[in-house]
Amino acid sequence: MPSDKPTNNHLMRRREAAVPRGPFNVAPIFAARAAGARLWDVEGKEYIDFCGGIGCVNVGHNHPRVVQAVKRQADQFLHTCWHVSMYEQYVRLAERLNDLVPIPGANMTAFFNSGAEACENAVKIARTFTGRSAVVSFERGFHGRTLLGMSLTGKVHPYTAGFGPFAPEVYRLPWKPFFHPPDASDEEIEAGALATLEDLFAYHVEPEEIACVILEPVFGEGGFYPVHPVALGVLRRVTEAKGILLIADEVQSGFGRCGRLFASEHYGLVPDMVVMAKSLAAGMPLSAVTAPSEIMNSPEVGGIGGTFGGNPVSCAAAHAVLDVMLEEKLPERAGKIGEKVMTAFQGFAAAYDQVRNPRGLGAMCAIDIVDPHTGLGSNDRAGKALAVAREKGLLVMTASGNVLRTLMPLVINDEELERGLNILSDAIAATP
Ligand SMILES: Cc1ncc(COP(=O)(O)O)c(C=O)c1O
Repeated sequence: MPSDKPTNNHLMRRREAAVPRGPFNVAPIFAARAAGARLWDVEGKEYIDFCGGIGCVNVGHNHPRVVQAVKRQADQFLHTCWHVSMYEQYVRLAERLNDLVPIPGANMTAFFNSGAEACENAVKIARTFTGRSAVVSFERGFHGRTLLGMSLTGKVHPYTAGFGPFAPEVYRLPWKPFFHPPDASDEEIEAGALATLEDLFAYHVEPEEIACVILEPVFGEGGFYPVHPVALGVLRRVTEAKGILLIADEVQSGFGRCGRLFASEHYGLVPDMVVMAKSLAAGMPLSAVTAPSEIMNSPEVGGIGGTFGGNPVSCAAAHAVLDVMLEEKLPERAGKIGEKVMTAFQGFAAAYDQVRNPRGLGAMCAIDIVDPHTGLGSNDRAGKALAVAREKGLLVMTASGNVLRTLMPLVINDEELERGLNILSDAIAATP
Protein backbone atom coordinates (compact mmCIF):
# COMPACT_ATOMS: atom_id res chain seq x y z
CA MET A 1 0.00 0.00 0.00
CA PRO A 2 1.43 3.42 -0.88
CA SER A 3 2.10 5.51 2.23
CA ASP A 4 0.52 8.98 2.37
CA LYS A 5 3.17 10.13 4.87
CA PRO A 6 5.14 13.05 3.41
CA THR A 7 8.80 12.46 2.64
CA ASN A 8 11.53 15.09 2.86
CA ASN A 9 11.97 14.91 -0.92
CA HIS A 10 8.30 15.41 -1.62
CA LEU A 11 8.04 18.36 0.77
CA MET A 12 11.26 19.79 -0.67
CA ARG A 13 9.76 19.81 -4.15
CA ARG A 14 6.70 21.67 -2.80
CA ARG A 15 8.94 24.06 -0.88
CA GLU A 16 10.96 24.82 -4.00
CA ALA A 17 7.80 25.58 -5.97
CA ALA A 18 6.05 27.66 -3.29
CA VAL A 19 8.77 29.43 -1.27
CA PRO A 20 11.58 31.60 -2.66
CA ARG A 21 15.21 30.55 -2.14
CA GLY A 22 15.98 33.67 -0.05
CA PRO A 23 14.82 32.21 3.29
CA PHE A 24 17.71 29.72 3.35
CA ASN A 25 17.74 26.17 4.72
CA VAL A 26 20.57 24.46 6.57
CA ALA A 27 19.30 20.96 5.72
CA PRO A 28 16.82 19.53 3.19
CA ILE A 29 14.71 18.02 5.95
CA PHE A 30 11.32 18.76 7.49
CA ALA A 31 10.78 18.47 11.24
CA ALA A 32 8.13 16.21 12.74
CA ARG A 33 9.01 16.76 16.39
CA ALA A 34 11.85 17.79 18.68
CA ALA A 35 12.74 17.35 22.34
CA GLY A 36 15.81 18.33 24.38
CA ALA A 37 18.80 18.13 22.04
CA ARG A 38 17.16 15.84 19.47
CA LEU A 39 15.00 16.35 16.44
CA TRP A 40 13.11 13.86 14.26
CA ASP A 41 12.26 14.48 10.63
CA VAL A 42 9.03 13.50 8.86
CA GLU A 43 10.61 10.19 7.81
CA GLY A 44 11.33 9.30 11.43
CA LYS A 45 15.11 9.84 11.20
CA GLU A 46 16.61 11.06 14.47
CA TYR A 47 19.24 13.81 14.68
CA ILE A 48 21.37 15.17 17.47
CA ASP A 49 20.90 18.91 17.13
CA PHE A 50 23.98 21.16 17.26
CA CYS A 51 21.96 24.06 15.73
CA GLY A 52 19.24 24.57 18.36
CA GLY A 53 17.06 26.57 15.96
CA ILE A 54 20.12 28.86 15.43
CA GLY A 55 20.72 29.38 19.11
CA CYS A 56 17.08 29.81 20.14
CA VAL A 57 16.57 26.74 22.29
CA ASN A 58 19.34 26.92 24.87
CA VAL A 59 16.87 25.35 27.34
CA GLY A 60 16.21 22.54 24.85
CA HIS A 61 13.46 21.84 22.36
CA ASN A 62 10.03 21.74 23.97
CA HIS A 63 11.19 21.98 27.55
CA PRO A 64 8.12 20.72 29.47
CA ARG A 65 8.05 23.83 31.67
CA VAL A 66 8.07 26.12 28.65
CA VAL A 67 5.38 24.10 26.89
CA GLN A 68 3.24 24.14 30.03
CA ALA A 69 3.65 27.91 30.44
CA VAL A 70 2.73 28.48 26.78
CA LYS A 71 -0.37 26.28 27.06
CA ARG A 72 -1.49 27.93 30.26
CA GLN A 73 -1.14 31.41 28.76
CA ALA A 74 -2.83 30.32 25.50
CA ASP A 75 -5.84 29.22 27.56
CA GLN A 76 -6.08 32.70 29.11
CA PHE A 77 -5.48 35.04 26.16
CA LEU A 78 -3.23 35.03 23.09
CA HIS A 79 -3.02 38.72 22.39
CA THR A 80 -4.52 41.92 23.65
CA CYS A 81 -1.77 44.18 22.30
CA TRP A 82 0.31 45.71 25.07
CA HIS A 83 -0.68 49.15 23.82
CA VAL A 84 -4.41 48.38 24.24
CA SER A 85 -4.65 46.31 27.39
CA MET A 86 -1.53 45.67 29.46
CA TYR A 87 -0.73 42.40 31.24
CA GLU A 88 1.36 41.57 34.26
CA GLN A 89 3.54 39.01 32.43
CA TYR A 90 5.16 41.82 30.43
CA VAL A 91 5.87 43.95 33.49
CA ARG A 92 7.23 41.03 35.52
CA LEU A 93 9.50 39.94 32.68
CA ALA A 94 10.83 43.49 32.41
CA GLU A 95 11.46 43.49 36.17
CA ARG A 96 13.37 40.21 35.93
CA LEU A 97 15.54 41.30 32.99
CA ASN A 98 16.18 44.68 34.63
CA ASP A 99 17.78 42.79 37.52
CA LEU A 100 19.58 40.17 35.41
CA VAL A 101 21.42 42.27 32.81
CA PRO A 102 24.98 43.31 33.69
CA ILE A 103 24.00 46.97 34.14
CA PRO A 104 23.69 48.10 37.77
CA GLY A 105 21.01 50.51 38.95
CA ALA A 106 17.44 51.15 37.90
CA ASN A 107 16.89 49.65 34.45
CA MET A 108 13.88 49.43 32.16
CA THR A 109 13.01 46.98 29.40
CA ALA A 110 10.87 47.19 26.27
CA PHE A 111 9.91 44.14 24.22
CA PHE A 112 9.86 43.55 20.48
CA ASN A 113 9.61 40.53 18.14
CA SER A 114 12.98 39.79 16.55
CA GLY A 115 16.65 40.45 17.05
CA ALA A 116 16.72 42.90 14.14
CA GLU A 117 13.81 44.84 15.56
CA ALA A 118 15.46 45.05 18.98
CA CYS A 119 18.73 46.31 17.41
CA GLU A 120 16.79 48.95 15.47
CA ASN A 121 15.01 50.08 18.62
CA ALA A 122 18.24 50.19 20.62
CA VAL A 123 19.61 52.61 18.00
CA LYS A 124 16.41 54.70 18.04
CA ILE A 125 16.61 54.97 21.81
CA ALA A 126 20.34 55.81 21.73
CA ARG A 127 19.65 58.57 19.19
CA THR A 128 16.89 60.19 21.22
CA PHE A 129 18.94 59.95 24.42
CA THR A 130 22.14 61.45 22.99
CA GLY A 131 20.58 63.77 20.41
CA ARG A 132 23.21 62.40 17.98
CA SER A 133 22.63 60.51 14.75
CA ALA A 134 25.73 58.49 13.83
CA VAL A 135 26.02 54.80 14.65
CA VAL A 136 29.15 52.65 14.65
CA SER A 137 29.23 48.91 14.09
CA PHE A 138 31.88 46.35 13.14
CA GLU A 139 33.00 44.61 9.99
CA ARG A 140 31.79 40.99 10.31
CA GLY A 141 29.05 42.07 12.76
CA PHE A 142 25.49 40.88 12.15
CA HIS A 143 22.41 42.68 13.43
CA GLY A 144 19.56 41.43 11.24
CA ARG A 145 17.92 41.77 7.87
CA THR A 146 15.79 44.93 8.18
CA LEU A 147 17.02 48.14 6.56
CA LEU A 148 18.86 49.39 9.64
CA GLY A 149 19.82 45.80 10.63
CA MET A 150 21.58 45.29 7.30
CA SER A 151 23.03 48.77 7.37
CA LEU A 152 24.68 47.87 10.69
CA THR A 153 25.75 44.46 9.40
CA GLY A 154 29.33 44.19 8.21
CA LYS A 155 29.10 41.37 5.69
CA VAL A 156 28.17 41.70 2.02
CA HIS A 157 27.01 38.24 0.88
CA PRO A 158 24.30 37.22 1.52
CA TYR A 159 23.16 40.05 3.77
CA THR A 160 23.55 43.34 1.92
CA ALA A 161 24.44 42.62 -1.72
CA GLY A 162 21.77 44.08 -3.99
CA PHE A 163 19.66 45.50 -1.18
CA GLY A 164 20.91 49.11 -1.10
CA PRO A 165 20.64 52.00 -0.60
CA PHE A 166 21.25 51.58 3.10
CA ALA A 167 20.46 53.71 6.14
CA PRO A 168 22.80 56.71 6.35
CA GLU A 169 25.09 57.67 9.22
CA VAL A 170 26.38 54.15 9.87
CA TYR A 171 30.17 53.79 10.19
CA ARG A 172 32.04 50.53 10.52
CA LEU A 173 35.15 49.70 12.52
CA PRO A 174 37.58 47.07 11.22
CA TRP A 175 37.15 43.82 13.11
CA LYS A 176 40.72 42.66 13.50
CA PRO A 177 42.08 45.14 16.08
CA PHE A 178 39.16 44.24 18.36
CA PHE A 179 38.33 40.61 17.61
CA HIS A 180 41.49 39.08 16.19
CA PRO A 181 44.50 41.29 16.96
CA PRO A 182 47.94 40.02 16.01
CA ASP A 183 49.76 37.91 18.58
CA ALA A 184 51.10 40.84 20.55
CA SER A 185 51.46 42.25 24.05
CA ASP A 186 48.48 43.78 25.81
CA GLU A 187 50.10 47.19 25.38
CA GLU A 188 50.33 46.71 21.61
CA ILE A 189 46.73 45.49 21.37
CA GLU A 190 45.61 48.48 23.41
CA ALA A 191 47.57 50.83 21.16
CA GLY A 192 46.08 49.17 18.04
CA ALA A 193 42.50 49.55 19.28
CA LEU A 194 43.10 53.14 20.32
CA ALA A 195 44.67 54.04 16.97
CA THR A 196 41.71 52.46 15.14
CA LEU A 197 39.26 54.60 17.11
CA GLU A 198 41.36 57.71 16.56
CA ASP A 199 41.29 56.98 12.80
CA LEU A 200 37.51 56.64 12.95
CA PHE A 201 37.20 60.03 14.63
CA ALA A 202 39.77 61.67 12.35
CA TYR A 203 38.71 60.34 8.96
CA HIS A 204 35.07 59.26 9.22
CA VAL A 205 32.96 60.88 11.93
CA GLU A 206 33.36 63.18 14.90
CA PRO A 207 32.82 61.46 18.26
CA GLU A 208 30.36 64.23 19.19
CA GLU A 209 28.07 63.02 16.38
CA ILE A 210 28.08 59.36 17.44
CA ALA A 211 25.06 58.11 19.37
CA CYS A 212 26.24 54.55 19.90
CA VAL A 213 28.56 51.70 19.07
CA ILE A 214 26.86 48.31 18.68
CA LEU A 215 28.98 45.23 19.34
CA GLU A 216 28.47 41.48 19.66
CA PRO A 217 30.69 40.27 22.53
CA VAL A 218 31.15 37.15 20.38
CA PHE A 219 30.47 37.43 16.65
CA GLY A 220 27.58 35.14 15.69
CA GLU A 221 27.10 35.07 11.92
CA GLY A 222 30.53 36.72 11.60
CA GLY A 223 32.35 33.54 12.64
CA PHE A 224 32.30 33.10 16.43
CA TYR A 225 35.28 35.30 17.30
CA PRO A 226 35.10 36.54 20.90
CA VAL A 227 36.08 40.19 21.31
CA HIS A 228 39.57 40.65 22.77
CA PRO A 229 39.27 41.78 26.41
CA VAL A 230 41.99 44.43 26.15
CA ALA A 231 40.52 45.96 22.98
CA LEU A 232 37.05 45.86 24.53
CA GLY A 233 38.43 47.72 27.56
CA VAL A 234 39.69 50.47 25.24
CA LEU A 235 36.34 50.67 23.47
CA ARG A 236 34.49 50.95 26.78
CA ARG A 237 36.84 53.66 28.07
CA VAL A 238 36.71 55.74 24.90
CA THR A 239 32.93 55.48 24.42
CA GLU A 240 32.38 56.51 28.02
CA ALA A 241 34.74 59.46 27.72
CA LYS A 242 33.04 60.67 24.52
CA GLY A 243 29.43 60.23 25.70
CA ILE A 244 28.81 57.42 23.18
CA LEU A 245 26.50 54.60 24.29
CA LEU A 246 27.88 51.07 24.02
CA ILE A 247 25.21 48.56 23.00
CA ALA A 248 25.89 44.87 23.68
CA ASP A 249 24.06 42.78 21.08
CA GLU A 250 23.63 39.57 23.08
CA VAL A 251 21.08 38.09 20.68
CA GLN A 252 23.22 35.02 19.95
CA SER A 253 25.76 35.12 22.81
CA GLY A 254 23.21 35.59 25.61
CA PHE A 255 21.04 33.33 27.73
CA GLY A 256 23.72 30.99 28.96
CA ARG A 257 25.37 30.20 25.63
CA CYS A 258 28.81 31.46 26.64
CA GLY A 259 28.92 30.10 30.20
CA ARG A 260 27.30 33.11 31.90
CA LEU A 261 23.79 34.46 31.45
CA PHE A 262 25.32 37.18 29.24
CA ALA A 263 28.68 36.97 27.45
CA SER A 264 29.40 40.56 28.60
CA GLU A 265 29.80 39.18 32.13
CA HIS A 266 32.94 37.26 31.09
CA TYR A 267 34.63 40.56 30.39
CA GLY A 268 33.26 42.47 33.34
CA LEU A 269 31.70 44.67 30.65
CA VAL A 270 29.05 47.12 31.80
CA PRO A 271 27.34 48.13 28.54
CA ASP A 272 24.89 51.01 28.33
CA MET A 273 22.22 48.88 26.64
CA VAL A 274 21.67 45.15 26.16
CA VAL A 275 19.82 43.67 23.18
CA MET A 276 18.32 40.19 23.59
CA ALA A 277 16.30 37.77 21.45
CA LYS A 278 16.73 34.14 20.28
CA SER A 279 16.91 31.95 23.44
CA LEU A 280 15.04 34.51 25.55
CA ALA A 281 11.76 32.71 24.87
CA ALA A 282 12.94 29.23 23.70
CA GLY A 283 11.78 29.71 20.13
CA MET A 284 8.71 31.88 20.70
CA PRO A 285 9.24 35.24 18.98
CA LEU A 286 10.41 37.78 21.56
CA SER A 287 13.20 40.31 21.81
CA ALA A 288 14.12 42.93 24.35
CA VAL A 289 16.15 46.07 24.95
CA THR A 290 17.25 46.83 28.51
CA ALA A 291 19.08 49.94 29.71
CA PRO A 292 19.03 52.46 32.57
CA SER A 293 15.66 54.17 32.89
CA GLU A 294 16.89 57.63 31.83
CA ILE A 295 18.06 56.14 28.52
CA MET A 296 14.97 53.97 27.97
CA ASN A 297 12.62 56.85 28.73
CA SER A 298 14.09 59.17 26.10
CA PRO A 299 11.70 58.32 23.20
CA GLU A 300 8.33 59.98 23.57
CA VAL A 301 5.11 58.06 24.29
CA GLY A 302 4.28 55.98 21.21
CA GLY A 303 7.81 56.36 19.78
CA ILE A 304 8.70 52.72 20.33
CA GLY A 305 6.61 49.55 20.52
CA GLY A 306 4.61 47.59 17.97
CA THR A 307 1.49 45.47 17.57
CA PHE A 308 2.99 42.14 18.62
CA GLY A 309 5.92 43.28 20.79
CA GLY A 310 5.97 41.44 24.12
CA ASN A 311 3.26 38.99 23.13
CA PRO A 312 1.84 37.37 26.30
CA VAL A 313 2.49 33.80 25.14
CA SER A 314 6.10 34.69 24.35
CA CYS A 315 6.42 36.42 27.75
CA ALA A 316 5.08 33.30 29.47
CA ALA A 317 7.66 31.19 27.62
CA ALA A 318 10.43 33.62 28.65
CA HIS A 319 9.47 33.36 32.34
CA ALA A 320 9.78 29.58 32.11
CA VAL A 321 13.12 29.97 30.29
CA LEU A 322 14.52 32.14 33.08
CA ASP A 323 13.28 29.69 35.74
CA VAL A 324 14.82 26.71 33.93
CA MET A 325 18.04 28.55 33.11
CA LEU A 326 18.65 29.49 36.74
CA GLU A 327 17.35 26.31 38.40
CA GLU A 328 19.11 23.90 36.03
CA LYS A 329 22.24 26.09 36.09
CA LEU A 330 22.46 26.03 32.29
CA PRO A 331 25.09 28.78 32.01
CA GLU A 332 27.42 26.61 34.13
CA ARG A 333 26.55 23.61 32.00
CA ALA A 334 27.49 25.65 28.91
CA GLY A 335 30.98 26.07 30.39
CA LYS A 336 31.33 22.28 30.75
CA ILE A 337 29.96 21.65 27.26
CA GLY A 338 32.36 24.25 25.88
CA GLU A 339 35.37 22.52 27.51
CA LYS A 340 34.43 19.20 25.91
CA VAL A 341 33.81 20.79 22.51
CA MET A 342 37.07 22.75 22.58
CA THR A 343 39.04 19.62 23.53
CA ALA A 344 37.43 17.80 20.60
CA PHE A 345 38.03 20.75 18.24
CA GLN A 346 41.70 20.96 19.22
CA GLY A 347 41.91 17.25 18.44
CA PHE A 348 40.30 17.86 15.03
CA ALA A 349 42.81 20.66 14.31
CA ALA A 350 45.69 18.32 15.18
CA ALA A 351 44.27 15.40 13.18
CA TYR A 352 42.84 17.03 10.05
CA ASP A 353 44.73 19.37 7.73
CA GLN A 354 41.48 21.09 6.73
CA VAL A 355 40.60 22.17 10.29
CA ARG A 356 42.08 25.39 11.71
CA ASN A 357 41.62 27.90 14.46
CA PRO A 358 39.44 26.31 17.19
CA ARG A 359 37.94 29.17 19.16
CA GLY A 360 34.97 30.29 21.18
CA LEU A 361 33.56 31.23 24.54
CA GLY A 362 31.61 28.72 26.65
CA ALA A 363 29.49 26.56 24.36
CA MET A 364 29.73 29.07 21.47
CA CYS A 365 32.57 27.27 19.69
CA ALA A 366 33.80 27.08 16.12
CA ILE A 367 36.46 25.79 13.74
CA ASP A 368 37.43 26.97 10.27
CA ILE A 369 37.27 24.48 7.43
CA VAL A 370 39.97 25.42 4.92
CA ASP A 371 41.60 24.20 1.76
CA PRO A 372 44.66 22.49 3.28
CA HIS A 373 46.83 23.53 0.32
CA THR A 374 46.10 27.27 0.47
CA GLY A 375 44.82 27.71 4.03
CA LEU A 376 41.88 29.68 2.59
CA GLY A 377 38.35 29.08 3.86
CA SER A 378 36.58 26.30 1.96
CA ASN A 379 32.79 26.67 1.91
CA ASP A 380 32.61 23.65 -0.33
CA ARG A 381 34.39 21.31 2.11
CA ALA A 382 32.35 22.72 5.02
CA GLY A 383 29.11 22.10 3.10
CA LYS A 384 30.13 18.54 2.31
CA ALA A 385 31.06 17.85 5.93
CA LEU A 386 27.61 19.12 7.03
CA ALA A 387 25.92 16.81 4.52
CA VAL A 388 27.88 13.77 5.70
CA ALA A 389 27.17 14.66 9.34
CA ARG A 390 23.47 14.91 8.55
CA GLU A 391 23.48 11.51 6.89
CA LYS A 392 25.05 10.12 10.07
CA GLY A 393 22.43 11.81 12.30
CA LEU A 394 23.88 15.19 13.32
CA LEU A 395 22.47 18.61 12.49
CA VAL A 396 25.22 21.21 12.45
CA MET A 397 25.62 24.51 10.60
CA THR A 398 28.14 27.04 9.42
CA ALA A 399 28.64 30.74 10.00
CA SER A 400 30.36 32.81 7.31
CA GLY A 401 30.32 29.83 4.94
CA ASN A 402 33.34 27.86 6.11
CA VAL A 403 33.02 28.15 9.90
CA LEU A 404 31.48 25.15 11.68
CA ARG A 405 29.75 26.44 14.80
CA THR A 406 28.06 24.85 17.79
CA LEU A 407 24.71 26.04 19.15
CA MET A 408 23.50 22.84 20.76
CA PRO A 409 20.78 23.06 23.42
CA LEU A 410 22.50 23.33 26.79
CA VAL A 411 20.40 20.43 28.13
CA ILE A 412 22.31 18.06 25.84
CA ASN A 413 23.63 15.12 27.87
CA ASP A 414 27.22 13.85 27.77
CA GLU A 415 26.36 10.82 25.67
CA GLU A 416 24.57 12.92 23.02
CA LEU A 417 27.39 15.44 23.02
CA GLU A 418 30.07 12.80 22.59
CA ARG A 419 28.09 11.03 19.87
CA GLY A 420 27.57 14.32 18.03
CA LEU A 421 31.27 15.21 18.23
CA ASN A 422 32.25 11.73 16.98
CA ILE A 423 29.88 12.10 14.02
CA LEU A 424 31.36 15.52 13.26
CA SER A 425 34.88 14.10 13.41
CA ASP A 426 33.95 11.27 11.01
CA ALA A 427 32.22 13.74 8.67
CA ILE A 428 35.28 15.99 8.52
CA ALA A 429 37.55 12.96 7.99
CA ALA A 430 35.34 11.93 5.07
CA THR A 431 35.71 15.34 3.34
CA PRO A 432 39.49 16.02 3.24
C1 LIG B 1 23.91 38.98 17.13
C2 LIG B 1 22.63 39.01 16.34
N1 LIG B 1 21.93 40.15 16.29
C3 LIG B 1 20.78 40.22 15.60
C4 LIG B 1 20.27 39.13 14.95
C5 LIG B 1 18.99 39.25 14.19
O1 LIG B 1 18.00 38.51 14.83
P1 LIG B 1 16.66 38.11 14.06
O2 LIG B 1 17.03 37.09 13.05
O3 LIG B 1 15.77 37.58 15.16
O4 LIG B 1 16.12 39.36 13.45
C6 LIG B 1 20.96 37.92 14.98
C7 LIG B 1 20.47 36.73 14.28
O5 LIG B 1 21.16 35.78 14.02
C8 LIG B 1 22.18 37.86 15.70
O6 LIG B 1 22.89 36.74 15.77
